[in-house]
Amino acid sequence: MANIKKIGILTGGGDCPGLNAVIRAVVFKAIDNGWEVAGVKYGWKGMINADAVPLTKKDVEGILPLGGTILKTSRTNPFKVEGGAEKVIENAKKMGIDCLVAVGGEDTLGVANKLTKMGFACVGVPKTIDNDLGATDYTFGYQTAVQIASDAMDRLHTTAKSHDRVIVCEVMGRHAGWMTTDAGMSASAHWIFIPEVKGNLDECCKLLKERYARGDRYGIVAVSEGALFSDFDVEAASKETDAFGHVKLGGVGKALAKEIEKRTGLETREVVLGHTQRGGSPLAYDRVLGTRLGYKAVEMVKAGQFAMMASLRGEKIEAVPIEEAVKELKTVPEGYYKVSRTFFN
Ligand code: F6P
Repeated sequence: MANIKKIGILTGGGDCPGLNAVIRAVVFKAIDNGWEVAGVKYGWKGMINADAVPLTKKDVEGILPLGGTILKTSRTNPFKVEGGAEKVIENAKKMGIDCLVAVGGEDTLGVANKLTKMGFACVGVPKTIDNDLGATDYTFGYQTAVQIASDAMDRLHTTAKSHDRVIVCEVMGRHAGWMTTDAGMSASAHWIFIPEVKGNLDECCKLLKERYARGDRYGIVAVSEGALFSDFDVEAASKETDAFGHVKLGGVGKALAKEIEKRTGLETREVVLGHTQRGGSPLAYDRVLGTRLGYKAVEMVKAGQFAMMASLRGEKIEAVPIEEAVKELKTVPEGYYKVSRTFFN
């Protein structure tokens, strides 16, 4: 068992609904263990700048329904900042932080893993609306984001129908099509394009024309921001990258709407859900999952299970190596997507 007096907690990468539930759980459980808690601001940037505040149970009162993160976040990568990793370790010592709970996706967790190898003990909690992390069934925040996308598409049905229009709905998720597939399936999109299975736009256009011909004079097309096509070239990625080398995606919805209108002659509009999907209050599911993961992370600190991540496996929360979670993206299997195709009608 590790000899702990104070732990730190940070949230890194894109924010996501449920982060505050994790923070609250970590604070409660750590204080019950007799430890102090330092809330590190702005992800890894806060460790580089020694920017942290003490957190008590009082500080986390009432934060469960809040979206975002009370600790703020950034996409700072200490390994891309000159002497950044060494600074993190030095500051941890200065601030008396014996161990850190890093809440984030593959990038934040990858850093936690490397720092643990360098001697700064870290434990991970998986977070991302994209649901693309390995070694865990789901990440918290995902269900809320899917619900937001599904609700949006429900609304698009009625307006599209009133105007005899096609509406293309662009969904976040980077190179994983989980949100688009699930939201599209839930809101009965008439076609779904994702990155994992190259989509055929001509088939989609044929279906849309058939719908109009038979009297169903509207269409909803769900498209992942990173979708790929077999018969349509789209430049949805900008040249701009973040500190972890990820390209900024976006624009496929607009290009697709234009192309559908060109190929079908049907009036087509696009809607980009973007950051709407990350904002607002988490669903109860994500609050509970975040709470269970935060609780487990503190148990892992106590047990000295470093470079490990709290993970949802079936009904259980287990400790798994971070390495396992970040080694490859968890993408939508073809068989899963195939179910949604049955309803392209
Ligand atoms: O990884 C979460 C995510 O919301 C992706 O779905 C999206 O591509 C990206 O973050 C957007 O990043 P930013 O908030 O930096 O624009």
